[in-house]
Amino acid sequence: MALWSSSSSPKGIVVTFPVLLLTGFAVILFCFFFISNLSSCSCPVTPRIVVSGTAANNGVHIGEGVLTNKDDVEWVKDQIKANGLQMHENVLRKGINPRTRAQQLEDLRQFKGISHYEGPEDQNRTAFPCPGELLVEEHHSNYGEPWAGGRDVFEFLAEFSHITPDAHVLEIGCGTLRVGLHFIRYLRRGHYHCLERDELSMMAAFRYELPSQGLLSKRPLIVKGEDMNFSKFGSEVHYDLIYASAVFLHMPDKLVWVGLERLSNKLKPYDGRIFVSHNIKFCSRLGGEECTKRLTNLGLEYLGKRTHDSLLFNHYEIWFEFRRSKP
Ligand SMILES: *[C@@H]1O[C@H](CO)[C@@H](O)[C@H](O)[C@H]1NC(C)=O
Ligand SMILES: *[C@@H]1O[C@H](CO)[C@@H](O)[C@H](O)[C@H]1NC(C)=O
Repeated sequence: MALWSSSSSPKGIVVTFPVLLLTGFAVILFCFFFISNLSSCSCPVTPRIVVSGTAANNGVHIGEGVLTNKDDVEWVKDQIKANGLQMHENVLRKGINPRTRAQQLEDLRQFKGISHYEGPEDQNRTAFPCPGELLVEEHHSNYGEPWAGGRDVFEFLAEFSHITPDAHVLEIGCGTLRVGLHFIRYLRRGHYHCLERDELSMMAAFRYELPSQGLLSKRPLIVKGEDMNFSKFGSEVHYDLIYASAVFLHMPDKLVWVGLERLSNKLKPYDGRIFVSHNIKFCSRLGGEECTKRLTNLGLEYLGKRTHDSLLFNHYEIWFEFRRSKP
């Protein structure tokens, strides 16, 4: 699987043959330097101890089985082939009655097809009743991209920040836990933290996602707030990974910088990583030099841009990587 490339290529541009040839040559040259740079990386990053199952795959470090690998994909393709499976129109058939989320919600409210206790709610035997709209997973459609993309983000971040289940992770804006669920499952109890401002998203996280995924015992620390105030997370914890997926681009630049200032000393020096998705206009709007200066003042260093391909749909993530370069 192609894990990451250095940049995307513009579509629909007509190029002449010599230009193509030249470009090809430049790309090969670039790749050569890029790859040799990677393999002889002299960055002061010491790889963490990785338990068995570690393998080298095209020079890319494989952590603790986080990445879906080529064998996994081949295996699932074989299963589909061996069973002669194909996609068909999803229509009413024996024992199967496909519903939209809205139809399912209506059925649920009328207790259609569900065994339920009659009578007043004081007889309810449900330990933690969940709102119907969450039960039919309306919140899985709250994002532009499919819910499954959360796994892509997790695999990428876990892999490229070289974390283990012992790591401490902070997400800025975890929403309904589309990505966070995967971290919560992977990390030790209490090691996942998040600052989120949207109340409905937090309700979906606490009332549906965590209980339904059996992850309450992981005790994630999810705090409501929108002012980049991290005081509730304590001052002792140092994070191995801090990430913001499609969050900084929706915030005023000034607030992003306030956040970075408060986060810089919460990040583990050298090995710890900050990953920011989509763009870093809070930085580029200042101009390269000015941005570098401000980052340096905070003890931070920009390491570069990475892209990551989705496993299930034609889509790639763009991530910007930072580290703390001062003890
Ligand atoms: C159902 O019972 C639980 C536990 O006793 C209670 O907390 C909850 O409020 C009840 N739900 C409703 C809808 O009455
Ligand atoms: C952050 O929030 C805490 C309360 O949780 C408050 O005491 C503190 O003043 C806030 N800090 C800032 C900088 O807003």
